Amino acid sequence: MNTARDTSTDLPAIAFNQVRPEGDELAHVSAAITSGLTQSSGPYTARATEILKAETGCPEALLTTSCTAALELSALLLDLQPGDTVIVPSFTFVTSALAYVREGAKVKFCDIEPETLGPDPKHVAELLDDTVRAVVVVHYAGVACDMDGLREVLKDRPDVAIVEDTAHALFGRWRGQPLGSLGRFATLSFHQTKNIVCGEGGALLLNDPEDVRRAWVLYDKGTDRKAFFQGFVDKYSWRDVGSSFGMSDALAAYLYGQLEVRESIQARRRAVYEGYLEALGPYAEEVGLRLPVIPEHVDPAYHLFHVLLPDHETRGRAIKELAAQNISTTFHYVPLHNSEGGRQFSAYASDDVPDCPVTIDVSERLLRLPFHNHLTRTDVERVSEALVGVLRA
Ligand SMILES: Cc1ncc(COP(=O)(O)O)c(C=O)c1O
Repeated sequence: MNTARDTSTDLPAIAFNQVRPEGDELAHVSAAITSGLTQSSGPYTARATEILKAETGCPEALLTTSCTAALELSALLLDLQPGDTVIVPSFTFVTSALAYVREGAKVKFCDIEPETLGPDPKHVAELLDDTVRAVVVVHYAGVACDMDGLREVLKDRPDVAIVEDTAHALFGRWRGQPLGSLGRFATLSFHQTKNIVCGEGGALLLNDPEDVRRAWVLYDKGTDRKAFFQGFVDKYSWRDVGSSFGMSDALAAYLYGQLEVRESIQARRRAVYEGYLEALGPYAEEVGLRLPVIPEHVDPAYHLFHVLLPDHETRGRAIKELAAQNISTTFHYVPLHNSEGGRQFSAYASDDVPDCPVTIDVSERLLRLPFHNHLTRTDVERVSEALVGVLRA
């Protein structure tokens, strides 16, 4: 690698993310619209759902308008009561916590462990008490978190639901098992930044068959319309709480087009991921760069590529100097536990929120590199050379 610093600005731009049709998405969307069947639960929804069920082994999957909506549906299914709490890592997206707050729960923020950047089982154990109804488990960047540790902590608490926030992690595996199949619920995102996209979209995966019937009612505006269409009741009516969670079949057609070519998408993302590891690996120690840690029993989902830089100041400088070389990089989650909303909705008084030092440290030093299906080997090498050059300076 030529790691001499090149600060010229006439190099072509390397975008952080890039979304293009990968297969027959346009034909499927056109067919859905031409058919006139664009409401939720249409034929493309059925086809996309079958693929998700086969890939994750989950008995039921409901396509939603976003991962946020899927988290909200899981919160409704938990029937949260006043005084209930949910443990959520501080290092995640806002709605991993907000979905439960909307149903009246308070949040206990847990720290992350420094390797996988998933929830720290030791901190979860400290926070666990009789008020806890669920633990939200985020597999950051598509790398499974410490599920052994979490299962050990929760082994005597079958009343505490595991919700896998699998926004990053579709197609990842832990000990050979698909991510999304390890808890009572799992949520997926098909937002345009994810591996499989449809603009905005998501899914709720149900692993407990006991949840399926009620989930369909809550999903479909509190009605038993699904049972009506299946011929189990002769008219449908209002049965329970709920909302309009369903994804339009026009978007499900887009999603199905992406899922059809999932193997090629994943293979290209894997090549980019491994390209970064290969290009940066030899310099990591010298320039103080920490590469992603992938435990032996984990198959990553290749969602994003992050590195940890020596400190906050270096991260700021790297973003600026890489931008000057037409390379787009970014930071990631801002800690939730000490945010305005986090303090407001925490289970603790606002000045008594538990400390999450690893979250704060990682949030200040983490840098995300360009990562998408169309990044070439040359792009990966140029980004890696530029980053090493910045860190050597
Ligand atoms: C871990 C995590 N959960 C949930 C979400 C929300 O996803 P969506 O935009 O599909 O609602 C995101 C968004 O990126 C996320 O990173």
